[in-house]
Amino acid sequence: MKNPQKIADAKGKLGILLVGMGAVSTTTIAGVMAIRKGLAKPIGSLTQMGTIRLGKRTEGRSPLIKDFVPLSSLDDVVFGGWDIFEDNAYQAAKTAGVLDKDLLEQIRPELEAIKPMSAVFDRRYVKRLDGPNVKKGKNKKDLAEQLVEDMRRFKKENNCDRLVMVWCGSTEVYLQESAAHTTVENLERAMEANDDSIPSSMIYAYAAIREGIPYANAAPNLSADIPALLTLADKTATPVSGKDLKTGQTWMKTLVAPGIKARLLGVEGWYSTNILGNRDGEVLDDPESFKTKEESKKSVLDYILQPNLYPDLYGHLDHVVRINYYPPRGDNKEGWDNIDIFGWLGYPMQLKINFLCRDSILAAPIVLDVALFLDLAKRAGMDGIQEWLSFYFKSPMHAKEVYPEHDLFIQLMKLKNTLRHLRGEELITHLGLEYYD
Ligand SMILES: NC(=O)c1ccc[n+]([C@@H]2O[C@H](COP(=O)([O-])OP(=O)(O)OC[C@H]3O[C@@H](n4cnc5c(N)ncnc54)[C@H](O)[C@@H]3O)[C@@H](O)[C@H]2O)c1
Repeated sequence: MKNPQKIADAKGKLGILLVGMGAVSTTTIAGVMAIRKGLAKPIGSLTQMGTIRLGKRTEGRSPLIKDFVPLSSLDDVVFGGWDIFEDNAYQAAKTAGVLDKDLLEQIRPELEAIKPMSAVFDRRYVKRLDGPNVKKGKNKKDLAEQLVEDMRRFKKENNCDRLVMVWCGSTEVYLQESAAHTTVENLERAMEANDDSIPSSMIYAYAAIREGIPYANAAPNLSADIPALLTLADKTATPVSGKDLKTGQTWMKTLVAPGIKARLLGVEGWYSTNILGNRDGEVLDDPESFKTKEESKKSVLDYILQPNLYPDLYGHLDHVVRINYYPPRGDNKEGWDNIDIFGWLGYPMQLKINFLCRDSILAAPIVLDVALFLDLAKRAGMDGIQEWLSFYFKSPMHAKEVYPEHDLFIQLMKLKNTLRHLRGEELITHLGLEYYD
């Protein structure tokens, strides 16, 4: 045992504030309520079901992660959030159509009690949406102040000890880092001037980070991933993480690609297509929102396969990603991957993956884990980018001087070693020579 880090207790209530009460958010909220009532199990959640090996393989120590590090208990979690629609969480969950009516009826009163606060929203950034529950303000800075008021009021009214915020709102149009994003002063000035380079998600991120509230981004928008907000996070000791939950097809990609590379097989092309019929699919049907998603999905293979190190194997890879909005499927996405690979002496082979998944069922346990781990990070005094949470994201935020790590297995090792480090346990390297001395 080395020096464990100081971690404040997870006492009192944790408020999880979700921006956007759509499919992902309501599936997360309803899931936690159903689990609390013993109606279902937290399948897919590392914080609830995962274990962590400690010490040597011969020691047989593998506690549950939630018994190893002090995480907020699900009984102590309170949900709140914002949306441009006034529907409460029960109505929104029904509209999302992810969970069975039977299950929703059993938790109906708890869900009905969650009413979204009015949103900061501008159609400029999400063209396919419009709704009535939207704040008015002098300028973007004023809107941020209104969000700060919302958070303070929520905390008081719900008797919360701590808060975290997760952006589960729609994917905004593609934006690149610009001058307004460089320093806190520039950002605040740009907000006061209603500069176009400040999308709604950035206003939420600013409000949370200024208040020292951990912030995660479940979508691919720039949001908190700009120098100004990272500097602010440093000042206010706020952990941040993102971007874009790694579910569905990209998760599958980060499972399969490391395997192909481990055997040094080549890849000539990777064609991925999806059909999806939920509101997310509708928003992504707009080319500008899709561009944000496309960038997030496409970078994964480059980083895993490293064509610069393996030009003969991956130097000429054609990578195509498509999302097609197809309403009959609702939240039940179907993805197809055709992978043209080649082996010994260049002989070609093909791999086909047909994944019939449920988008929000895969996303909900991740939102829960990220919220609970960010709260842990805050109590452990870890601020800024939480790279150890890369495991959950398609475009993991990372320090400027390093490339992002996309390989799921390296990401999991990094996450678990971070927890071991926090508790002063030996890091696991998998060397294992001592068993053969
Ligand atoms: N489900 C997945 O597997 C998955 C994976 C990765 C990323 N995501 C991302 O997560 C986000 C949520 O996905 P979803 O399926 O729940 O979508 P959704 O369309 O069902 O929900 C998004 C909600 O956000 C609301 N919203 C949009 N802008 C807002 C704003 N400025 N303030 C408050 N509310 C706002 C919308 O009204 C809507 O209710 C999307 O950006 C999606 O791309 C989802």
